[in-house]
Amino acid sequence: MSSKLAIDGGAPVREARLPYGRQWVDEDDIAAVIEVLRSDWLTTGPKVGEFEEAFADFVGVTEAVAVSNGTAALHAAMYAANIGPGDEVIVSPMTFAASANCVVYQGGTPLFPDVDPDTLLLDPAHVEAKITSRTKAIIAVDYAGQPCDYDALQAIADQHNLTLVADACHAIGGSYQGRPVGSLADLSAFSFHPVKHITTGEGGMITTDDPNLARRMRIFRNHGITTDHRQREQQGSWFYEMVDLGYNYRLTDIQCALGLSQLRKLPGWVARRQEIARRYNAAFAEMPAVEPLVVREDVSHAYHLYMIRLDLDRLQVNRARVFAALRAEGIGANVHYIPVHYHPFYRQRFGTGHGLCPVAEAAYEQLITLPIFPHMSDDDIDDVIVAVRKVVETYRR
Ligand SMILES: Cc1ncc(COP(=O)(O)O)c(C=O)c1O
Repeated sequence: MSSKLAIDGGAPVREARLPYGRQWVDEDDIAAVIEVLRSDWLTTGPKVGEFEEAFADFVGVTEAVAVSNGTAALHAAMYAANIGPGDEVIVSPMTFAASANCVVYQGGTPLFPDVDPDTLLLDPAHVEAKITSRTKAIIAVDYAGQPCDYDALQAIADQHNLTLVADACHAIGGSYQGRPVGSLADLSAFSFHPVKHITTGEGGMITTDDPNLARRMRIFRNHGITTDHRQREQQGSWFYEMVDLGYNYRLTDIQCALGLSQLRKLPGWVARRQEIARRYNAAFAEMPAVEPLVVREDVSHAYHLYMIRLDLDRLQVNRARVFAALRAEGIGANVHYIPVHYHPFYRQRFGTGHGLCPVAEAAYEQLITLPIFPHMSDDDIDDVIVAVRKVVETYRR
């Protein structure tokens, strides 16, 4: 590769920066939202139940509870699992802070076992080693969209009487041994933030096969009150009771209409994400300094994110320089994630820090997230590949 890097004053691969993720909202989606805006119910209306039912069907469970975002979904899951002060919950360190924050909201203590070096998913052996008499739950994060090893995690959960929660915010549309994500744990949490597979602006969902847990989470998302506005309207009653401390975590009908419309397109979008990943994998197989993460054979990866791991021994520069060089080329690179136990809050509150999870920490120094979203064109994919090749060849040791 002869051309000068854009970071050194050369011409960039592309002028307008390609983001790492982006929503796709079409005219059908807009029409669905407008229909609700013209209706009687903007919130606590019929679209909420419709979206919940469609989502439960999609993942093959009996119950889905819509909430205002993925973080609220995780918080509701911790409430349903009865997590409280003194309880410990095992959480992957290789995730967004919200995966662990939900434990702290309930007064619990997150414990961070290390991850598998190939997939960066929770390593069941490390999970087991963390369990104490105070441990009540495991939050498995389907990092990047690859489902965790749920059989191994379920066996540990059963043996120690723990609730298994899937943070499936990256993984809707994926599957494990032919079983859909959303049906693999006691409780599974989803996010509908615009960079995720489908969006409702902000939004979230919890899926479960346990009607009792679903009922409790419906109360939790509604201030801890047993009936909502429409139910009281239908009953012709003003009376309600607040039976527990809940929150206003409701998802509006406007958002649910958008979610329903988006959900119909999800299978095609997951297929396109998988196709983009296949093209990246084929291209990066020719670049020794670039290693995609390993995908296990028994899963279908939903590819919310696509990460490469840099072999820094083959490069003259560190990850920060490769990141900056890619951005200068017009590629919206990102990094997922700063390990949760590195954050100042966790260091100060729980005494975590460097050295707790050596595999996650080493991976963090090498990771770069590349653009992947269904609306990307084939030319966009080529631009990413050309830019990565240009940067790693220029910095080759
Ligand atoms: C793994 C994971 N868990 C939880 C969340 C929180 O979702 P939300 O942004 O909808 O609150 C996110 C979103 O970024 C996430 O990536």
